[in-house]
Amino acid sequence: MKSRANISKIDRCNGLSQKAFYNKYVKTSLPVVITDKAEWTSSEKFTIDYLKSNYNHLSKTIDGKTYSLSEIIDLCQTSTPENKAPYPNTYDALRDFPENFGDLPEILYGKSNRLNSRLLSNFFAKHTNQHELFFGGYGCSFPTVHFDWLGVHSQITQIIGKKDVILYSPDQTPYFYPDKRHHHHSPVNILNPDYDKFPLFKNAKAVKTTLNPGETLFIPAGWWHTTYMHDFNLTVAISHVNSYNWNFFMDELYLNTKIHYPKLAWMVKIYKVVVGKIFNVKEALVN
Ligand SMILES: [Fe+2]
Repeated sequence: MKSRANISKIDRCNGLSQKAFYNKYVKTSLPVVITDKAEWTSSEKFTIDYLKSNYNHLSKTIDGKTYSLSEIIDLCQTSTPENKAPYPNTYDALRDFPENFGDLPEILYGKSNRLNSRLLSNFFAKHTNQHELFFGGYGCSFPTVHFDWLGVHSQITQIIGKKDVILYSPDQTPYFYPDKRHHHHSPVNILNPDYDKFPLFKNAKAVKTTLNPGETLFIPAGWWHTTYMHDFNLTVAISHVNSYNWNFFMDELYLNTKIHYPKLAWMVKIYKVVVGKIFNVKEALVN
């Protein structure tokens, strides 16, 4: 793959066709912000009052204390860099908010998500957390820079608030000192890096973008990233696997299965080849 270490900005596109999206960004592993196609985010269903009155039965336990959704929202609304709300606060968008996300269109990909196919055994795909809703507040940031687990692509759609996303291309992985067991997380604190401990991080080149409500960021598989919030934030993230990250996804799945179910890991290798070919044929017939 061509080196992406020197891209200095992320394209922002309006009116991008699905074909152009695949050709310009998915195939070449380049992030992009889509500024249209998520008009549903302006629905009155995504106001703080609506969420508090309709979903207060949802609860979250953080450090042994259980909070209702209203309490989580209050914490996020009063968050400051000095006194941050706990983050990430995530909910399963499909299970917990089915009225709003049940028919959420995968605005970038159409029907190409292999995670939704019956061909991909639930045993393998069940931990990929396909639709995650994040609540956050001013000063909140993802605790570590990481690439998304199992090598999925992500689409992040901003519903409320502004979110900075800081990204690094996959060819910069050596600068992040990933540990062997959790190799999608980096121990480097990118906001205050310890160059004595992680000297190679000096070479890392970030590319930053800010997401506004109604905008969607495509993060290709393997891109390191973290986020920072300026105000109350509501974001939905969707994981995606298609022909371009299939091998990466299955290789990551193999490593994970080898740790947790060593006797079954060989099945993943067979799955990668056999089911990968079936998907390719099926998708070629549709397109
Ligand atoms: Fe992520």
